Amino acid sequence: TPVEIDRPKRVLLAAPRGYCAGVDRAVIAVEKALEQYGAPVYVRKQIVHNVHVVSELEKAGAIFVDEVDEVPEGSHIVFSAHGVSPAVVKGAADRELQAIDATCPLVTKVHREAVRFSKQDYWILLIGHEGHEEVEGTMGHAPERTILVNDPDEADRIEVPETENLIWLSQTTLSVDETMETVRRLRERFPHLKDPPSDDICYATQNRQVAIKKVAPDADLVIIVGSSNSSNSVRLVEVALEYGAKAAYRIDYASEIRQEWFEGVASVGVSSGASVPEVLVEQVLADLRDAGFENVEIVKTAEEDLMFSLPKELRTNATGER
Ligand code: F3S
Repeated sequence: TPVEIDRPKRVLLAAPRGYCAGVDRAVIAVEKALEQYGAPVYVRKQIVHNVHVVSELEKAGAIFVDEVDEVPEGSHIVFSAHGVSPAVVKGAADRELQAIDATCPLVTKVHREAVRFSKQDYWILLIGHEGHEEVEGTMGHAPERTILVNDPDEADRIEVPETENLIWLSQTTLSVDETMETVRRLRERFPHLKDPPSDDICYATQNRQVAIKKVAPDADLVIIVGSSNSSNSVRLVEVALEYGAKAAYRIDYASEIRQEWFEGVASVGVSSGASVPEVLVEQVLADLRDAGFENVEIVKTAEEDLMFSLPKELRTNATGER
């Protein structure tokens, strides 16, 4: 409409966006392992769910495998940020692999909760997406006591062995709103359902959703940089649409932006998932500049300064340096 054409073109750049502390640590862990032990270093599953990161590390000598039995005995193997079940750790030890555990400490926290509550004879209702690596790792810590709940609809259907000793835990990268809805519907059926001791949806997931919620109502178009298997990136697209963005797309690379997305668009919201290097966002901003969106406003809703120390296997090298 003519009104839209009159509006100045602008970019609303969400902050925080991109790398979280757990991803940063996991990627550095693979780089350090390559430096310390030389190529190849094996990595079980994608170290983080980003196409670009994985292909760059492959170029540097990392070999990504699905399971530990694909790795030659005695080699170095890195476990991904999403975490592994005890069975995987044992499988690696049986093959005498040198394991470097890049599991995000915030995922490890959920693992510990699963172990603790299962030992206290709770049934764990784990809210998360079936088949996601993190869910497999967490369920593996209490396989006999965990029941997976995918979404609010499943909350209405799942069956539990008893209604007293129930606690819910969750995957770290879910939609906060949808998870609360799942919990609400679980509690309707099971009033004694206990809450986890602290948030399982991590700070990075929450912060990125809060920022895009602020951007979305003013955005004609939202572009989220992130890979298709990145749970928190895909959630950002959904949240943007729920909060009023007229359209929202997920891309891996700036080259996927389509000209027709810009028809009648004056404001473009931009964010990226927790596994996305900033260079990919910079390429999107450069292409937007070329399309006439030069004015970039930063929409900042939180400050992040969390950092995790490296996996213990990498903290010191032969000379004792960090
Ligand atoms: Fe960890 Fe959350 Fe990032 S669980 S890997 S800080 S998305």
